[in-house]
Amino acid sequence: MKLSDLTIEEKLRLICGKGSWHTEDFGGKLPAVSMSDGPVGLRTMYQAENGTWETWSAVAYPSVQMLANTWSEDCARLMGECLGDDAAERNVDLLLGPGVNIKRNPLNGRNFEYFSEDPCLAGTLAKAYVAGVQSCGVGACVKHFCCNNLEFDRLHQSSDVDERTLREIYYRPFEIACEARPVAVMCSYNRINGTYGSEYKKGYDVLRGEFAFDGAIISDWDAVRDRTVAAKAGLDVEMPFNERNYERLVADYEAGKITEAEIDACAARVLALGERVLSMREQRAPKRTEAERAEAAKNIAAEGVVLLKNDGVLPLEKGIKAAVCGYYAKPDDVRTLAGGGSSQVVWKDASFDLPAQLSARGVENVYEQGCAVDTVWSVRMDMRRARMNAAESAVNLVCVGTGNLLEFEEGDRRSMRLPEVQERLILETAEENANTIVVLFAGAAVDMSRWVDRVAAVVYAGFPGMGGDAVLADLLTGARNFSGKTSETFPYELTDVPAAEGFVSAGVTRYQEGLDVGYRYFTSHDMPVLFPFGYGLSYAMFDYSDLALQPMETGVRVSFCIENISERDGAEAAQVYVHECAPLVYRPTRELKDFVKPVVRAGEKTIVVLTLPMRAFAHWSTSQDKWVVTDGVYKIMVGASSEDIRLSAKIKIEDGKICAL
Ligand code: BGC
Repeated sequence: MKLSDLTIEEKLRLICGKGSWHTEDFGGKLPAVSMSDGPVGLRTMYQAENGTWETWSAVAYPSVQMLANTWSEDCARLMGECLGDDAAERNVDLLLGPGVNIKRNPLNGRNFEYFSEDPCLAGTLAKAYVAGVQSCGVGACVKHFCCNNLEFDRLHQSSDVDERTLREIYYRPFEIACEARPVAVMCSYNRINGTYGSEYKKGYDVLRGEFAFDGAIISDWDAVRDRTVAAKAGLDVEMPFNERNYERLVADYEAGKITEAEIDACAARVLALGERVLSMREQRAPKRTEAERAEAAKNIAAEGVVLLKNDGVLPLEKGIKAAVCGYYAKPDDVRTLAGGGSSQVVWKDASFDLPAQLSARGVENVYEQGCAVDTVWSVRMDMRRARMNAAESAVNLVCVGTGNLLEFEEGDRRSMRLPEVQERLILETAEENANTIVVLFAGAAVDMSRWVDRVAAVVYAGFPGMGGDAVLADLLTGARNFSGKTSETFPYELTDVPAAEGFVSAGVTRYQEGLDVGYRYFTSHDMPVLFPFGYGLSYAMFDYSDLALQPMETGVRVSFCIENISERDGAEAAQVYVHECAPLVYRPTRELKDFVKPVVRAGEKTIVVLTLPMRAFAHWSTSQDKWVVTDGVYKIMVGASSEDIRLSAKIKIEDGKICAL
């Protein structure tokens, strides 16, 4: 159907969605594009016979924050492909994910749904995820554009951000993800410099112009305040259908407040969306069975668990006697092992039992919950039994976390610390057993200052999804090796984070730290952190050597060697950072520009080769309104983390050309 076949009434209707999860189809004349959350498992709803709305169960994958901890484009692509198959099976045309918002503040309630504090990591993984979903004939919807970095008062808060920071930090993951040609982008609820995300013409123009985004912009659910203003800005579909907004739009059209040409621009893109979806439906052919997808979820989780500390207590030996405590080892409800809100999945296999998985691997253990997991002070009597078990065992595993009680949509965490009862469970059992291992189930950085020095090991288990218990047991016993690294900094405490100051001020959040988000701040200001960005231990050990830089026409070829100097096979996420040595504008000390994660067998070496394009050296010039590469000297650093630079060398840019130094 062409635009000219539609009446103005139909066009007005077309840009307003239909029900909660579809676009208008005029009784089958157009494809009804069906949409569903979400980023870590399908949350497709259906109406049961008694009329109530229910959610289909689905494969539950690790949370996006954990996907980012894999530092693996292969994992992101795999997760996208699996989700694409899940969606195709339920006739979902558009998967509402991934979310690429930057983790500016560790307290943001939705950090578990987002990739990273770094735009290169977030964007690169999102691009692979989008490509994976779309290779299955299902569209992906990158969200939330833009600067949705807090849940507090999210429908009104305005993110006050300067243009350079927008370009280099907050737009950048969208820009990279757009290279995979996503079918849609979802706007954010908040305002950006005073303008609602649903009316953000300036940003949409950048998306469509500079980032070559050619899909549809859809609203976040109920994010539209004024459909007319939103349509004029270029927001194509309002979701869900809102009778009042629709009627006002019709009245505004009749009053001449919006022209037919303006409506046509949106309607044409909704028609194009339908056409693209129709042709994608034809490509649908399942790549994996459901069992294979559940297995993939486990493999992704295995790469996303981060070993933060190990005094030598791990891996656990067969036959060792362990005490296990903490609600998260064996939760009553697996929903508590994920963040809450629109990304919450009804798990297909709703079991999670770490003690049983450990027993199956020869780790004899006794389990005691130890304390309740509510957010207020309440200690159950069995904390005493957990202490006794710890005292009688060779090792003590404490499974603590946040889950959907503390991390959820529409609210932010109040503190970076764990609830008092859980901290006490760690401290009291650690008093009885020096070999205490903390397994942390959380979707964002946690302040560990009260207990980290009193325990022998810390495993950051994230929100691992289905089969996460088996994966953790494999990692803890050494059947699998750790290879995850942090995708966000773990500061000592919240006050170390610049964004913590001026968190909220009457309706406006000032991004006064500018480019100094996450490790950009900590490395540029020599601020110590508990665990830096890009950090994670392994049972293997890696050496880096032989960095070589070769100037090319359009960038610089970087090569270096990673050697596994241990007796365990492993995978190492190596990071490439860039710094301009004598800049004319502020430039952070270190900025991630690429990363790789090769598997290196015990005792073997691998040569990594990558190319940094000219853009890796550019900054957004506010005086010239464009990306600029300044002539000068640049340092290229290869690191095992943002604080552990193993190799570095310099190049020079002269007259816009890269030269050896
Ligand atoms: C969330 C979106 C989600 C939508 C539909 C909104 O509240 O912000 O991320 O896709 O609901 O469930």
